[in-house]
This record gives sequence, C-alpha cells and structure tokens, in this order.
Amino acid sequence: MNALLGWIEKRLPVTNAYRKHLSEYPMPKNFNFWYIFGSLAMLVLVNQIVTGIWLTMNYVPSGEGAFASIEYIMRDVEYGWLLRYMHSTGASAFFVVIYLHMFRGLIYGSYQKPRELLWLFGMLIFLILMAEAFMGYLLPWGQMSFWGAQVIISLFGAIPVIGDDLTLWIRGDYVVSGATLNRFFALHVIALPIVLLLLIVLHVLALHEVGSNNPDGIETKLPKGSKGEGYKTQFRFHEYYSNKYDIIDSIPFHPYGTVKDLIGVAVFAFFFSYVIFFNPEMGGYFLEPPNFEAANPLKTPEHIAPVWYFTPFYAILRAVPDKLLGVAAMGASIVFLFLLPWFDRCRVRSFRYRSKVHFINICQFTISFIALGILGTLPATPTYTLLAQIFSFAYFMFFILLFFYSKNEVTKPLPERVTFK
Ligand code: HEM
Repeated sequence: MNALLGWIEKRLPVTNAYRKHLSEYPMPKNFNFWYIFGSLAMLVLVNQIVTGIWLTMNYVPSGEGAFASIEYIMRDVEYGWLLRYMHSTGASAFFVVIYLHMFRGLIYGSYQKPRELLWLFGMLIFLILMAEAFMGYLLPWGQMSFWGAQVIISLFGAIPVIGDDLTLWIRGDYVVSGATLNRFFALHVIALPIVLLLLIVLHVLALHEVGSNNPDGIETKLPKGSKGEGYKTQFRFHEYYSNKYDIIDSIPFHPYGTVKDLIGVAVFAFFFSYVIFFNPEMGGYFLEPPNFEAANPLKTPEHIAPVWYFTPFYAILRAVPDKLLGVAAMGASIVFLFLLPWFDRCRVRSFRYRSKVHFINICQFTISFIALGILGTLPATPTYTLLAQIFSFAYFMFFILLFFYSKNEVTKPLPERVTFK
C-alpha cells in the first residue's frame, strides 16, 4: 500500500494536498459554532448534486411534460418524493447556511485584508447560487414558476436601450415558454453547477493561501519553528506534534475540525429531516401553494412573491417607485456587499474588539435585512412600502456609516493569543 501511495505521490501529490488542505490544515483553536457553516454548505451542495442527478432521470424538460413529470416523480417513482423534497428543502437549507456563513464573515471581519479575494469569490458564489435557485424554480412549471420568472425576467426590460432585446434573449421567446424552460434546465443542471464548483475550489484555495480568520480576528501564531510563512511551503504538522512544541493558536483540522463539523452535520441533519418528513412545504415558504397548480399564462396569481431567500432584495426593488431605479437599487444592494472589504477601513476585525457604534450598526443591518425579507413576502400596501423604504435606507446606511466611522474607530486592545469565550 505504501509503495503504491509513494508511486502515485511522485506523479501526483495527492497525499500532500490532502495533508495541506485537510488533515493538517492549521485551524485556529478558538473556532466556534459560527465556523460550521462552510462545511455544511459543501454538504448541502453534494445533496443538491446527488438528488438533482436522480431527479433528472425522470424529469421531462418541456412545457408540455414538466409539471406532469414532477407529479409522476412524487407519486410513482420509488422514493421520488424523498428525492424531490431533499432537493427542494436543500435549496432553502443552502441559503440558510450561506446567510449564516456570510454573517459570521461580517461579525468577525473575515472579509478584511488579506481575505478580500476570498470574500469576492464568496460573493460570486452567492450570485451564481441565486441564479441557480431562480432557474431551478422554473422547472416544476407551476404557477409560481411561471409568473415568478415572468416578473424577474421583465426586470431586465427596465435597462435603457438594450432592455427589450435582453429580455427576449433571456427568454428565447416573446413570453416565458417551453424554450425558456429548456434553456433554464440546461443552465440549472450543468452550466451553473460547473461554475459553482469551480468557484468553491477557488474560494477554498484562497482561504488556505492566507489561512483562516477566527472569532478574535487576530493573526494566529504558528508553531514554534515554523517561521511564520512556513506552513505554506513545507509545514508538517505531525512532525511538530510529535516534538511537543510550545502552545500554539492552531490545531490540525483532523481530528479537531472534522469532529466539530460532524456535530454540526448531526444537528443540521436533525432539522433537515424534520422539514423533509414532517413539513416539506414549510408553511408555503419552501414550496409555495400556487406552485401545485400547473403554469397557466392566462391566469395571474393574486399575489406573486419570490421564495423567501430572494425577498430582502425583492423588497428593496419594490421600495423604489420607479422601475429602473428599483432595479438599480437592488443591484446596488448586492454590489455594496461585494465592496464590503473596502467600505470597512478599520484594522481590527472582530466586533469583539470594535466600538459600540460598529456593534449597533451590525445589529441595525441585521434587523433591516430580516425586516426586508419579511416585507418582501407581503403585498405592497402603502404602509408596507413605507416600511420597506425605511429599511432599505437603513440597509445602505450600514455601508456608508461604516466607511466613515471605521477610519478612526476607537477599538479595544487586541489579545496576544486567541481567547476562548
Ligand atoms: C457554496 C457556497 C460556499 C461554500 C461551500 C463555502 C465554503 C467555505 C469553507 C469550507 C470555508 C472554511 C470553513 C469555514 O470558515 O466555515 C469558508 C470560509 C469562508 N467563506 Fe465560504 N463558502 C461558500 C460561500 C461563501 C459566501 C457566499 C461568502 C461571502 C460572500 C463566503 C465567505 C467566506 C469567508 C469570508 C470565509 C473565511 C472565514 C474565516 O476564516 O473567518 N463563503 N467557506
């Protein structure tokens, strides 16, 4: 076995890569609950790919056959209902996990130098994930699939000059039709997943190049003798371990990280199973009731709302009375997130050692984001629209205020080594 591994290693250093990126990756030892969501995102991704492949075996990607094929999967295909619910619940779970993962980055300042590129890859992943979910939602060809796509694609029509041609190009028809369904199917099952996988590899490589941040937001000290940069090139954790060196801030990912993440997986599996087996529609938030009716271009549903994970951005869109400006505001709300590393000019990362102002700003941002998410699911009455305008303003103010106060922020002294709270 050793000879075989040695033979492979000389030609392709898999064992070395496994050690560097997994078993011996130096994990700050003060990692907490917030650090389980990266691996959970990977788990949900695998779930989506595996259940997706099996769904594709019985799904018919055509305007005539799509809705009936989903009913067929639900009723006649053995365990088809399980595959479908794992996939539909997985879509929502993906966003729960990703939003928490991003929130962790926000509170611990993980987007700051030198992790800006890691953050940008993360944001690209988020963008592609939204496109992936949006296209997947058209596939059951129910009322919400159809009318949701109608509303969102028509937004591109607000862009001056090219708007109309662009919507035609996206739909492949003058209305949302079987042609749209076909291309969304192609993008959903192959094109976007490939891009997503590539981005995730880049995301993790970018992380491992600079090392993980941690809840204290301080640089972690490497083992004595590793000379700071050492681990990137020839760091051998097991050798340091066997030598009983000084106290250090990092511990090897295996077994410490793997065991921690497994606890996360168990807790996640508990909630995930509850939804799949007892509440797959989740009160209409994971699967919307009108989507149990086949798409009908002649019958507009009374109230069209996107799935919950899009609603914060949808509420910002609707808060602006002008269509073009609304689209611009929604676009800006995502662009601002991309630029977060440059809005924040403070050199202390974690909110633990930052000012009260920063803490309050993060709290108001979180409340605004959740409020926008709720408002996006409700009909646009005058009161709700006013509230959406207030919270949209607060959302943008988070970034603008951050830019100004972070420059000369009064921060608390940082600890020498990582702490355990
Ligand atoms: C499919 C989606 C994603 C996957 C599979 C993924 C995976 C991971 C993994 C495995 C880690 C290391 C473990 C951890 O810190 O939890 C990580 C770290 C990180 N991710 Fe992601 N990620 C995804 C999306 C995102 C998004 C959307 C963002 C933000 C825009 C993001 C930002 C970060 C940051 C800043 C870190 C470093 C955190 C730190 O060291 O404190 N990720 N990611």
